[in-house]
Amino acid sequence: MTDPIDDFDINDPELPKAIKKAAFGSGNYPYEDKLDDDEYDTQMYALQKQLVVHQAHMAKAGTRTIILFEGRDAAGKGGTIERFRENLNPRYTTIVALPKPSDRESTQWYFQRYVDWLPAAGEMMLFDRSWYNRAVVEPVMGFCTPEQSERFLEEAPQFERQLTRDGIQLFKFWLSIGREMQLKRFHDRRHDPLKTWKLSPVDLKALEKWDEYSEARNRMFKATDSKHAPWTVIRANDKNRLRLNAIRVVLHALDYEGKDEREIGEIDRKIVLTADDFLE
Ligand code: ADP
Ligand code: AMP
Ligand code: MLT
Ligand code: MLT
Repeated sequence: MTDPIDDFDINDPELPKAIKKAAFGSGNYPYEDKLDDDEYDTQMYALQKQLVVHQAHMAKAGTRTIILFEGRDAAGKGGTIERFRENLNPRYTTIVALPKPSDRESTQWYFQRYVDWLPAAGEMMLFDRSWYNRAVVEPVMGFCTPEQSERFLEEAPQFERQLTRDGIQLFKFWLSIGREMQLKRFHDRRHDPLKTWKLSPVDLKALEKWDEYSEARNRMFKATDSKHAPWTVIRANDKNRLRLNAIRVVLHALDYEGKDEREIGEIDRKIVLTADDFLE
């Protein structure tokens, strides 16, 4: 098979037709078209109402929740997080998107700077990338040694065990996009003045490292998919279905007064998978 990147020039304003055509279905995406925008709006409205109902419960019961989002660049983490947060009280629902570690932080215990952002009672922390940087981006890009990444894979389940044993509810999402979809989104970012800020040198370097990313991701799933903190994989080419289903997974798993299964709707098992299903 030829690699689509052979015909790809990020600086050429014209995206090759083959990439444009293949983008939506890439990575075995099971749908041919995105979910209709009106349906999306209706379902999102119902889901956001339920998030608001859940918010009242969080405050009352003092629950603590972490939802972390991982995935390749341009998988749609930021947009999904934004849909969770947009109608919630920003005082109790916080987006955590840490920059690369400072010189000082890079000498600390690896998990230390994340500990500062763990939730207190009534809080929900939405992590746009997380400690899992050390499983994928860092080893693939050479920001850590293979030994550091190995050690991380061993320690992450122990770290997460401590969090969940203390009563924190932890969700871990991997958003999965196809190769041509990633190329198309990078291309859009390069040529849309409102999106160029999203395209970083790390992204451009990652273009050539698709397979290394896949291998690192699979190793991460094998090492860190646990009973107390399982991964949920969402096929993410369609942002509408992605955003709806991410919220559904969370609401279905939570217990709260006023929960309405009809408003939440069914999880789409064609795009929502366990790590084991995904690896098969
Ligand atoms: P994003 O896609 O989250 O906007 P980037 O694609 O630029 O950001 O970077 C991916 C991740 O790699 C980020 O979490 C960033 O902090 C991290 N990163 C970038 N450079 C370094 C570095 N030198 N050392 C460690 N981590 C880094
Ligand atoms: P860049 O190399 O500018 O694309 O940045 C890669 C990542 O590192 C992004 O997540 C940035 O937010 C972060 N970053 C870049 N420069 C700095 C800096 N001087 N201090 C802290 N974080 C930075
Ligand atoms: C990503 O997934 O690359 C970023 O979080 C930005 C986004 O696509 O919304
Ligand atoms: C992008 O493709 O540029 C982003 O994912 C857009 C978004 O989700 O906000």
